[in-house]
Amino acid sequence: MTDPQIVLAQRVQQALAAAFGAEHADADPLIRPSQFADFQANVAMSLAKRLRRSPREVAQALAAELSDFPGTVEVSGPGFLNITLDDSWIAGEATGMLRDPRAGVGTVTPAQTVVIDYSAPNAAKEMHVGHLRTTIVGDALARVHEHVGNTVIRQNHLGDWGTPFGMLIEHLLDIGEETAVAQLEAGMGTEFYQAARAKFDGDDGFKARSRTRVTTLQSGDADTLRLWHVFMDATVRYFNKVYGMLGVTLTDADIAGESMYNPMLAKACDDLEAAGVAVLSEGALCLFPPGFTGSDDKPLPLIIRKSDGGYGYASTDMAAIRYRVHDLKADRILYVVGADQALHFRMVFAAAQQAGWLPDTVSAEHVQIGMMLGKDGRRFKTRSGESIKLMELLQEAVERASAAIAERGYDEATRAEIAQAVGMGAVKYADLSVSHDSEYVFDFDRMLKFTGNTGPYMQYATARIRSIFRKAGVMPADADGAIVPAEPAERALALHLLRFGALVEQVATASEPHALCAFLFETASLFSTFYEECPVAKDGVDAETKRQRLALCALTLRVLEAGLDLLGVPVPERM
Ligand code: ARG
Repeated sequence: MTDPQIVLAQRVQQALAAAFGAEHADADPLIRPSQFADFQANVAMSLAKRLRRSPREVAQALAAELSDFPGTVEVSGPGFLNITLDDSWIAGEATGMLRDPRAGVGTVTPAQTVVIDYSAPNAAKEMHVGHLRTTIVGDALARVHEHVGNTVIRQNHLGDWGTPFGMLIEHLLDIGEETAVAQLEAGMGTEFYQAARAKFDGDDGFKARSRTRVTTLQSGDADTLRLWHVFMDATVRYFNKVYGMLGVTLTDADIAGESMYNPMLAKACDDLEAAGVAVLSEGALCLFPPGFTGSDDKPLPLIIRKSDGGYGYASTDMAAIRYRVHDLKADRILYVVGADQALHFRMVFAAAQQAGWLPDTVSAEHVQIGMMLGKDGRRFKTRSGESIKLMELLQEAVERASAAIAERGYDEATRAEIAQAVGMGAVKYADLSVSHDSEYVFDFDRMLKFTGNTGPYMQYATARIRSIFRKAGVMPADADGAIVPAEPAERALALHLLRFGALVEQVATASEPHALCAFLFETASLFSTFYEECPVAKDGVDAETKRQRLALCALTLRVLEAGLDLLGVPVPERM
């Protein structure tokens, strides 16, 4: 662990224990970056009262214990500890990090099994922008957890079951399998659904057929199931096009849609009823997890079997949580799903706990995804009020990226490659860089800017370091000499880079990819300052300085590349 702030915290805690007894070893050392030193520790201020000593005395006692610390420790003001790390310590740690194939990112012990439920579009409708963020954020979390050594089980909880499938299958039969497949593969799920719906509402014969079809589907009729597969396979092929375009790691093996739980629902309901957790209320089987009341102060039900015997969204989620804990052996389950479903998940988690299906050793967490807004501040839609097609939106991002680099003189093929990376990088980074639960304005102009905390800027910063190496005629991998930060800008950059490993682990713990974006942005800014103030390969720079600075460039490049890769943001070789 090289994060200076963490190293420091541990040392101050040891000093606390040595100076005032082991019972103080757990006190928060209150380490903050400081304007007067690298860090300040404010613990003396908070502890003084309890120790019945003056803060300054406490600080002095701590400073005495820290005399062998690789840096200077000074007591300042009423009792702050100002701590400045030795340049040689920073140099040693940074050099070690450059030689570490994992660039300072450790692996967690014990490794956990982390189930991540993300993307989860509905087959009966088109995959829309609302599913964009859960896909992107969920995928980044999956990458980060895998990188820190956890076992990740991706679960794409597709909406692929339920009453609409009766009319969808009948409509498929009406227009013919071939036509239907072509439409669905082209992403016209919404149009397909709307056509079926219109017939259902206007044509009693069709409505009757659709209802019968639901029953035959649910009874497992072989021919109906075959038609359902035809519908679903074509739909999934479209989803896969979108995933491919985005560079998302989901595969068909990760599909665990609502239909998968269908055979488990009856037993789940029976078991919950037998355990006395589910009760009949007005004919419906309901869960009443403690602590949930409606506006009328009556307990709020989670309906797991409707009065007509049908199952719904909550039934499936109850079966799914049991399966994830019991069969998948999850230690953590992350539900990367829209914030508007917060109540649903709180109730599902509470009910699962009540039923004994979610033990204290397993944590179920709703990673809330904030709503995507248009520039007008309203839910993101087209002017005619329909939701926007995801694939069209992604294509537009690539076209805009291509236009933005039009003047740069690339040949056709290179330009297309860069535009693809920049377009997708812009969309993904924009989603990731704001905290996942805040609402978010989808704005092409802003996300495609080449300055500020944007995907294109981060890609540019990375490509720029690669070009420094090209010009110097050195491969980044060969720049493995010692890092010796001498100038303030070098020192600030190196000190910052040392935090990378702890930060990645923190992103996994707290499900906060935006913290990684902020860190990488800061990395790029500190690099810019360094590069302005410290010439690397210019004439007049002596060979040793050049070697040292290239090593620092190499470490910066490693961190930017590794960080962007964890976010799933592609980096073009040049820009
Ligand atoms: N298909 C749902 C939707 O689009 C999301 C499913 C999320 N996962 C779950 N286990 N409920 O709203």
